[in-house]
Amino acid sequence: MAGVGPVLTFCDRLRSPFTTYFSEPRFLVPNLRFVNAEETVEFDGKVELKEMGDFITFGCRSGKCGICSVRVVSGAENLSPKTSHEERLFALLKESDPAVRLACQSRAHGDAVLFEIN
Ligand code: FES
Repeated sequence: MAGVGPVLTFCDRLRSPFTTYFSEPRFLVPNLRFVNAEETVEFDGKVELKEMGDFITFGCRSGKCGICSVRVVSGAENLSPKTSHEERLFALLKESDPAVRLACQSRAHGDAVLFEIN
């Protein structure tokens, strides 16, 4: 067919760089960023922070020593609620900052940024 240029179908127009960027499926994997260690770890579903011994220093792992204290820089809503062990130890240590958590007592189910205090 002379004089007829390329025919763009509706699907071709949908493949523009702009629509491709927004239409491709993106599987966001939750991650934990450890500021001190300058590392980010992706995980599936939820994760116990006590499994992160490569990035956080642990002692007792039972909420008694406070060595694993971290400040939650962001993503506090993605961590499990404070345990009675944390409440008791922070009361003893007179730690009132709500952003401070014991990593050995915490579980993450979404993105969080953690800064190791000790
Ligand atoms: S390791 Fe001792 S309180 Fe967490």
